Amino acid sequence: MLEKDILKVLVTREEIKQIAKKLGKQLAEDYKDKFPLVVGILKGCVPFMGELVSEMDIHLEMGFMDVSSYHGGIESSGDVKISKDLGLSVQDRHIIIAEDIVDTGRTIKTIKELLLFRGASSVVTATMLDKPEGRVVDFHPEYIGTTIPKEFVVGFGLDYDEKYRNLPYVGVLKPEVYNK
Ligand code: IMP
Repeated sequence: MLEKDILKVLVTREEIKQIAKKLGKQLAEDYKDKFPLVVGILKGCVPFMGELVSEMDIHLEMGFMDVSSYHGGIESSGDVKISKDLGLSVQDRHIIIAEDIVDTGRTIKTIKELLLFRGASSVVTATMLDKPEGRVVDFHPEYIGTTIPKEFVVGFGLDYDEKYRNLPYVGVLKPEVYNK
């Protein structure tokens, strides 16, 4: 049913599993004595963060923030809005932000600065996808699953107009879907 809207698959289910495994093992090694707080940026982080933390065989805490810079379209609007805050202290904590994708970098840069301002000891970003050609601010995620070209993608957490987050892979939509 959803597959008929997909023009091409960019990252397969199997590749996503490998990405989560690789980043999860690396993070577990780097944070083994640090009891990190893994902060997911809703809603896109949900499927990937689930897989990522299940590959981290260490004690960790999870938290969520709801932040948006898109408002239903395919272009970033530029202003970052926090609609649900973390609700716990980050003072002296080591934070790993779990993201679906870094595009312009505005969202993640804003969140990182906010968490550091609130007293976090360290903040790194683990992102499933990186779109470096989309960057408008100076930002480099520390942990990157895979790099993709500057294309609008959906699936595995990523939406178009709140749809397609539940696709089990990452793909590009057929152009006619945008004109519906
Ligand atoms: P940034 O602030 O431009 O880096 O945007 C980050 C957020 O924008 C991500 O967490 C996604 O929610 C959304 N986003 C960026 N690129 C895409 C895309 O290709 N498809 C769907 N959402 C995207």
